[in-house]
Amino acid sequence: MMKLTVALLVVLVGLTVAVEEFKWDSVPSAGNNSQCVYRPQSRVLGCRGSDNVVECETVGQLPQGFEVFGLGRESLEGVVSVESQRYWFYPRELNQTVYHNHTVQGQNTTEELSLFHLERNQTVGLRVPDVKCWTRLVELFNASVGVHVVPVLNSTTEVPLFGEVLILERQAQKRWLGLGLLGLGLNPLLFGWGGLWGVAPLFPLLG
Ligand SMILES: *[C@@H]1O[C@H](CO)[C@@H](O)[C@H](O)[C@H]1NC(C)=O
Ligand SMILES: *[C@@H]1O[C@H](CO)[C@@H](O)[C@H](O)[C@H]1NC(C)=O
Ligand SMILES: *[C@@H]1O[C@H](CO)[C@@H](O)[C@H](O)[C@H]1NC(C)=O
Ligand SMILES: *[C@@H]1O[C@H](CO)[C@@H](O)[C@H](O)[C@H]1NC(C)=O
Ligand SMILES: *[C@@H]1O[C@H](CO)[C@@H](O)[C@H](O)[C@H]1NC(C)=O
Ligand SMILES: *[C@@H]1O[C@H](CO)[C@@H](O)[C@H](O)[C@H]1NC(C)=O
Ligand SMILES: *[C@@H]1O[C@H](CO)[C@@H](O)[C@H](O)[C@H]1NC(C)=O
Repeated sequence: MMKLTVALLVVLVGLTVAVEEFKWDSVPSAGNNSQCVYRPQSRVLGCRGSDNVVECETVGQLPQGFEVFGLGRESLEGVVSVESQRYWFYPRELNQTVYHNHTVQGQNTTEELSLFHLERNQTVGLRVPDVKCWTRLVELFNASVGVHVVPVLNSTTEVPLFGEVLILERQAQKRWLGLGLLGLGLNPLLFGWGGLWGVAPLFPLLG
């Protein structure tokens, strides 16, 4: 019992000390899918493709209450410039397998939750202002050819995702602990790099 407590303490301390460093090495690669981590404190979005990691600073905000956002492509006719490319965010709670649609209902408006580069008149979503970083991100996403078709809440239509964003903050870490992630390999973290896509997350993720 004593040993367990000590081990848990060590892990807890490890998790809370340095939120800034994400240990990509300790997470199995999702191969042809994009794995992203968003850290609200620093507003940095880091994504890993099949062989590289791209980290970009962002502005904007994501809706509260979701730990995971599925990444989908905007399907448009014709050629779209890299700058005007957009990616949908499909919110999901950590312990759910069903996603919400990428639209957010305001009082009189419907906003589309997305990741983008060009300035837009919207109150939700993340913008990557730096065009060089954005281009690298688009290239990484472009190379993510893997597709996972997932259900959307209250909809009979399913949507194709090429990756997921995990929101990385202290509160979420506590929930991971609460969900028993430090337990016996029983893993409720249905993240793209979790149970849902068949790759188990390993701890510690933060260093
Ligand atoms: C990635 O995609 C390529 C081409 O579609 C395929 O040959 C390869 O097996 C995929 N890799 C993984 C890990 O799924
Ligand atoms: C998922 O988590 C939420 C918030 O912690 C909780 O209210 C809900 O009961 C959980 N659902 C399941 C299926 O575990
Ligand atoms: C929404 O529409 C109603 C009626 O048209 C209006 O009274 C209200 O001020 C609007 N709310 C916002 C936030 O624009
Ligand atoms: C931005 O959107 C709001 C509400 O949708 C609208 O009232 C406002 O005029 C828009 N501003 C610009 C610059 O388009
Ligand atoms: C995306 O990939 C396709 C082929 O996989 C390539 O033709 C295209 O130029 C790429 N676009 C960008 C923006 O990298
Ligand atoms: C989904 O449907 C249920 C019951 O029909 C409703 O209570 C809920 O608000 C709906 N959720 C969304 C996001 O539309
Ligand atoms: C999501 O919302 C958009 C806009 O309201 C709608 O066109 C689309 O069909 C919805 N997608 C799903 C899967 O329900």
